Amino acid sequence: MMMLDGFELQTRWDEAFRAAVVAGLSRAQKSIPCCWLYDERGSELFNEITRLEEYYPTRAETEILLRWAGEMACFCGEDVLLFEYGAGAGIKTEILIEALDRPRLYVPIDIAGDVLAQTASRIRDRFPGLETLPIVADFNRDFELPADLPPGPRTAFFPGSTIGNLNRSETIAFLSRLHGHVEGRGTAIVGVDLKKDLGTLLTAYDDGAGVTAAFNLNLLARINRELDGDFPLDRFVHQARWNETESAVEMHLVSLDGRVVSVCGQQFAFREGETIHTESSRKYALDSFHSLAKTGGWRLSRAWLDEEDRFAVLGLEASP
Ligand code: AVJ
Repeated sequence: MMMLDGFELQTRWDEAFRAAVVAGLSRAQKSIPCCWLYDERGSELFNEITRLEEYYPTRAETEILLRWAGEMACFCGEDVLLFEYGAGAGIKTEILIEALDRPRLYVPIDIAGDVLAQTASRIRDRFPGLETLPIVADFNRDFELPADLPPGPRTAFFPGSTIGNLNRSETIAFLSRLHGHVEGRGTAIVGVDLKKDLGTLLTAYDDGAGVTAAFNLNLLARINRELDGDFPLDRFVHQARWNETESAVEMHLVSLDGRVVSVCGQQFAFREGETIHTESSRKYALDSFHSLAKTGGWRLSRAWLDEEDRFAVLGLEASP
């Protein structure tokens, strides 16, 4: 296997960003994949979002975990190997691990090596008896788990409703990948945001303090800084809109004027009111998620909801 040092990895990552932005700005509907929202500042702003009154998903999911972690632990079984897709900064993982019955191994998986190392050391401090095996991988692509993992039932944990960022075919591919990781006979615990009134949904993505707007606009600041762009940050505005066909809240950046923007020496023309689509966050009804899950190899067997039925943590069982 070819080994890459930190410098080469960073170079590849920068190049991937450049390619994603140039390709995205060349489309009829300009769009940039939402993973690029999370540079250092973007991650900070997202953490701020999770504490906003209007942004209910993080609070609702944490409430569910605090209340039902015991049942979730029974659902996973004893001596479980827990795989977590995306090593976030939150306390949700700790809540679940705390409840598990003699967990055997914790495997956080993330593309960002530094975030992963932080998560691993936090979990090791908090649960010194639990073996922790961090894996650097892009969980949106196929990757192999080590062949020599200890025996035991396997649970794939994917909190945060990050699954909502994936479209239909990506969701099925992702769920099939998880099915492979649990060797076709484990469980999965997945956080899913539920469809609800549009007022609540849109306000969650367009808060009064403008934190979500700053989060979205930070992408243009990042392009200006890293890709020699000249987006005038005061002439683009954040917009949250509902896409009924996709059942998703979309974030866009709207150009207030007709203008030509330069990025990496290339020119991109905007009409007045034209947008860059920066994120889709799908909202599910339980039955529509169940039919997707079935296609990905899973049976929906438990649904834990918050008091106001805004968010669901789902217990899935792999169908052989
Ligand atoms: C981290 C992807 C779950 O879609 O709700 C929050 C990101 N975007 N506000 C979401 C986000 C705008 C968030 N996820």
